Amino acid sequence: MQQVFPDQIKKKLGRIAAAPERISLTKKIQRINQLKKERNAVILAHNYQIPKIFHTVADIVGDSLALAREAEKIDADVIVVAGVHFMAETTKLLNPDKTVLIPDLKAGCSLAESITVKDVIELRKKYPGIPIITYVNTSAVVKAASDICCTSGNAKKVVEALGVPKVIMIPDEYLAQNIAKQTNVEILTWKGHCEVHERFTPQEVEQLKKDYPEASILVHPESPPAVINAADFSGSTAEMSDFIKQGRADEVILLTECSMSDNLAVLHPEVKFIRVCNLCPHMQRITLDNILMSLEENKYEVIIDPSIVNKARLSIKRMLEV
Ligand code: 13P
Ligand code: SF4
Repeated sequence: MQQVFPDQIKKKLGRIAAAPERISLTKKIQRINQLKKERNAVILAHNYQIPKIFHTVADIVGDSLALAREAEKIDADVIVVAGVHFMAETTKLLNPDKTVLIPDLKAGCSLAESITVKDVIELRKKYPGIPIITYVNTSAVVKAASDICCTSGNAKKVVEALGVPKVIMIPDEYLAQNIAKQTNVEILTWKGHCEVHERFTPQEVEQLKKDYPEASILVHPESPPAVINAADFSGSTAEMSDFIKQGRADEVILLTECSMSDNLAVLHPEVKFIRVCNLCPHMQRITLDNILMSLEENKYEVIIDPSIVNKARLSIKRMLEV
């Protein structure tokens, strides 16, 4: 768990915010931290959260896989998810007796919106007996209709762990195509895309290579296969962070959501970050103000239809066992 000490926060704030803003920010952060104590609450933050959240009030940070794993171990009454709705649902499924809050219910995801439970039922009819692997970036009801979940950090492992020649991987077409290149398992897929990563192009990567010949270009597996081919490294948000932490590049382009570079630059002033990126409008909905509101007003509580809870949880648990 990332401990929050005032001195550490002060040091990081110096790299995050200009002096005039620091006083009001400090007040907000202190109020949030006080409420966390009063309510026995923790804040889980995804790697795409802005530095003002990621480096100040977050207790646990990471990629979708790490957050799912950590969620299981949390000893708190209240969990605030600084991330998008499917992450809050995953947290609730793994912590059914705790109050799970998301500060903005509109923090969605284009992948989660690309598929419905009806689509999954149709796929089952069309391909009887073929297991359905669902990316965690889906609603709880889609997870409940699937056999097992995966994240970008464990997708290949999950595909191969099933021990079958053919699987269906929904809803991210590009993630499925990228994993298909790494395994002998045949992968059928869906037509969902991440609105942040689908916009990167191989031409953009080639141009960046010319403009910044010394820079390593890191991409996320939700990007089109041609982008992955052109880049130097592809991995989940945690794998990209590890690449930097291991000192594998002095100059880097994180061709992903903008907060990745912003957060890593606070920790690694020795690395030169070339800021070419796209913003995720859903991740950006979470702010320090609505986190404060969330703790003060107990909003918005994540409630999952009891009729699908067990099945959805099973899909996640199966993934965590792989
Ligand atoms: P990670 O699982 O790599 O953190 O990715 C989640 C996500 O939403 C990427 O767009
Ligand atoms: Fe969804 Fe893409 Fe935003 Fe991640 S970055 S939450 S996949 S829209």
